[in-house]
Amino acid sequence: RLKIEKQIQETKEKALLGGGQNRIDAQHKKGKLTARERIDLFADPGSFIEYDMFMEHTCTDFGMELQKFPGDSVITGHCLVNGRPIYVFSQDFTVFGGSLSSTHSKKICKIMDQAMAVGVPIVGLNDSGGARIQEGLDSLAGYADIFQRNVLASGVIPQISLIMGPCAGGAVYSPALTDFTFMVEDTSFLFVTGPDVVKSVTNEDVTQEKLGGAHTHTTVSGVAHKSFKNDIDALIQLRYFLGFLPQSNSQPIPVIACDDPCDKDVPILDTIIPLKTIEPYDMLDVILSIIDERDFFQIMPNYAKNIIVGFARMNGKTVGVVGNQPKVAAGCLDIDASIKAARFVRFCDAFNIPLITLVDVPGFLPGVHQEASGIIRHGAKLLYAYAEATVPKLTVITRKGYGGAYDVMSSKHLRGDVNYAWPTAELAVMGAKGAVSVLYRGKENADKYEAEYNNTFGNPFHAAKRGFIDDVIEPRTTRWRLCRDLDVLATKKMTNPPRKHGNMPL
Ligand code: COA
Repeated sequence: RLKIEKQIQETKEKALLGGGQNRIDAQHKKGKLTARERIDLFADPGSFIEYDMFMEHTCTDFGMELQKFPGDSVITGHCLVNGRPIYVFSQDFTVFGGSLSSTHSKKICKIMDQAMAVGVPIVGLNDSGGARIQEGLDSLAGYADIFQRNVLASGVIPQISLIMGPCAGGAVYSPALTDFTFMVEDTSFLFVTGPDVVKSVTNEDVTQEKLGGAHTHTTVSGVAHKSFKNDIDALIQLRYFLGFLPQSNSQPIPVIACDDPCDKDVPILDTIIPLKTIEPYDMLDVILSIIDERDFFQIMPNYAKNIIVGFARMNGKTVGVVGNQPKVAAGCLDIDASIKAARFVRFCDAFNIPLITLVDVPGFLPGVHQEASGIIRHGAKLLYAYAEATVPKLTVITRKGYGGAYDVMSSKHLRGDVNYAWPTAELAVMGAKGAVSVLYRGKENADKYEAEYNNTFGNPFHAAKRGFIDDVIEPRTTRWRLCRDLDVLATKKMTNPPRKHGNMPL
């Protein structure tokens, strides 16, 4: 018995060392923490419970039977984050470069199944050289087992990927299937094929960073939702982010104590909209003045900046906020903005998070490039997402609501629950200049016609008379009104017709 206990202890000690001290040192030299250090930072102290420390890879080719590490190249288990359970896996780059063996995959699949069974989010800390080359197709089968689970878990439990090192080839598709992908700056990259393959196929010279670094994916490709300075920053922010999310689609949204009064006017809101209708302002100022404690977790802050999306709280309860940003491209909806917001709206709807939409949209972005790239198809995604959503939908039109984009932005017509307009709202098919150039083409006195048009549509009354907005409100009252509305709407029940699934335009 003593012998067995000694063996257990020795194996565990070996597992704690991963690929050995030299490789741990090499990991640190790259500015990265080890897989275990990451879990230690991520989890509430002492809360991590590990699974499968004794599992080893099963490969017997290429001399692999002689190289075994207890636990293989991934650490799996569950822990608490701010007191709430989370399943987590952390790939260990010190063991075969964190590559995915069939054992590695089985360990991840086991906790994914558990996370689904108990209705708890799953977080992946990715740092891997991809498929375990020595295992051939067994490794690819392992990826597919994970992908299948990612898809079945979609919309049931939140799935979050934090990329903290390499993630290449087949490995990229699990993060792509999860709800949020975050990256660590400078030390992580994501690509389907690396710079060498790119060079040999397309003759392009590109660095790893340019091809798939955090900057590229958070500003150009939109593959990642946010990046963080280093491992420590990323793990702390991930803990904070999880605080906004419910545990699953059948659990209530989290509530925290709110010290920010939600029954008071916010006078600054009366002064944000400029007098001139074409002058930009920062919609972020509006959002921060409405939400609790100015505490806003932006998603994709550096991508498609003409729309802002992110999580906040109203009276302590999570909400998803979407807002057109007049500061960038006048807040027009384009392809990237539509896709960014559509995915966010769908996440919120899947997890019962109410949506607050702040509208100042002059329309869809015109242009040959936009049309040729399918703005119709992509713009329809956002329309579809809002129309499909059954969560409480609250909309405030701060200024422009023009054209088809007015319809799309959580309008009354898409089952909006509460639709307000500020006195500065202008709701019309298009702006005065464009309208007059169509209606009175070639005629003189354009100024007169524009003034007449503005008189009719350059205010909220035309829409209010038809009930397309529920009220015209003083901006300063917005926060407390939305808080009250959310209280009433907390018991909202709405379902879509039964079907296998809708056919969203992709
Ligand atoms: N399968 C098996 N072992 C792997 C591996 C893989 N996919 N990726 C890395 N390793 C091993 C390396 O052989 C090395 O082992 P060693 O220390 O015993 O020599 C160890 O992990 C560390 O890798 P190394 O290449 O030294 O690290 P790096 O930081 O210089 O480079 C990568 C990291 C990921 C860029 C590089 O390892 C790589 O290109 N790996 C292959 C990626 C790939 O094509 N995967 C298949 C696609 S699905």
